[in-house]
Amino acid sequence: MRRIYFDHSGTTPVHPEVAEEMYRFLTGDNFGNPSSINYFGQFVSQAVAEAREKVAEAVGADPGEIVFTSGGTESDNLAIHGVAFTNRSRGNHIITSAVEHHAVLNTVKALGKQGFDITILPVDQYGMVSVEDVAGAVTDKTILITVMHANNEVGTIMPVVEIGKFAREKGIIFHVDAAQSLGKIPVNVDDLGADLLSVSGHKIYGPKGIGALYIRKGTRWKQTLLHGGAQERLRRAGTENIPGIVGLGKAVELAMENRAGENTRLKALRDKLIREVTGRFDQVKLTGHPDLRLPNHASFLFKFIEGESMLLSLDMKGIAASTGSACTSRSLEPSHVLLAMGVPPEEAHGSLRITLGKDNTEEDVDYFLEVIGPVVEKLRVMSPLGVEG
Ligand SMILES: Cc1ncc(COP(=O)(O)O)c(C=O)c1O
Repeated sequence: MRRIYFDHSGTTPVHPEVAEEMYRFLTGDNFGNPSSINYFGQFVSQAVAEAREKVAEAVGADPGEIVFTSGGTESDNLAIHGVAFTNRSRGNHIITSAVEHHAVLNTVKALGKQGFDITILPVDQYGMVSVEDVAGAVTDKTILITVMHANNEVGTIMPVVEIGKFAREKGIIFHVDAAQSLGKIPVNVDDLGADLLSVSGHKIYGPKGIGALYIRKGTRWKQTLLHGGAQERLRRAGTENIPGIVGLGKAVELAMENRAGENTRLKALRDKLIREVTGRFDQVKLTGHPDLRLPNHASFLFKFIEGESMLLSLDMKGIAASTGSACTSRSLEPSHVLLAMGVPPEEAHGSLRITLGKDNTEEDVDYFLEVIGPVVEKLRVMSPLGVEG
């Protein structure tokens, strides 16, 4: 059966050149421990340095400001936890938005149970937080603002440049989760005014279980999570994941080479998808911002349909999509992102997310458009939710 993968915000296939690079460090003599000063260790240490340079260059940082982690989740935890406890004597207030990935939201909430005062800002109908709301929430105890660059469920790009500028003026540390934006839109730590920035490997055709955290030189941050060795200049204990690190370096390099071309190509496919889906069906709407959204991201709400049933029907036709976040898809709770955008809980179940990637073509989009019509028709007829009118 023809199989089409439309879930690139969930994860991406490992690029063959990335896999090749990783394989080199899983085989032969390239197994050294970079902390060892013998030949094997030094060879690997050089490969880690090169990967660090590539990640740094991609986000406009110095290599010394990049720490390798086990992924976006760890980067978020490391960033937020580290700022919170290092600045405890200065204040205890942390600001975030209601639509953050759980790696941020649950970390902030956990700190709320440990004596920190937390503000979770509301968003508008597009899932966007406003700079005015951020400014209104700041107190003289605010030590951290953490807002994502682009939302994984609805694709909305947040006003992080404005928030970063505001945070800089106020002298408040600003963390940006760029797991979804890197490789798709420009990510530059100076342009964003970010003091810390999280990156994930498997969203950009790299392996799972690897990521990076940018920490601006001079930021009041110390690692407070993992106790152990002096790796990553005391910023992340534990022997480095060498195949993952070189894989991330290669993935970032390829992402930078391909970003501009892919951005234009995927935007055209995305726009066709959005135009056709919202034009063809009644009671369907686009979720997220119509313009300020990721170039590969189309997300919808189908009234009177369960997103899960739609996914299964599409899957039987060879189309792999998602209802929203991959991480919460096994929970029956409606999406916290859609609820925060004001979607009623009964409607939030009808979400469908199509996130395009490097191997998708116009034929894939056309095939989807051919298949989705009968799927929607069939499910609406069967729907216990009933169709209005
Ligand atoms: C915005 C965002 N932040 C963080 C993460 C977590 O990254 P990882 O899967 O590498 O832990 C994800 C992954 O879905 C994400 O979309």
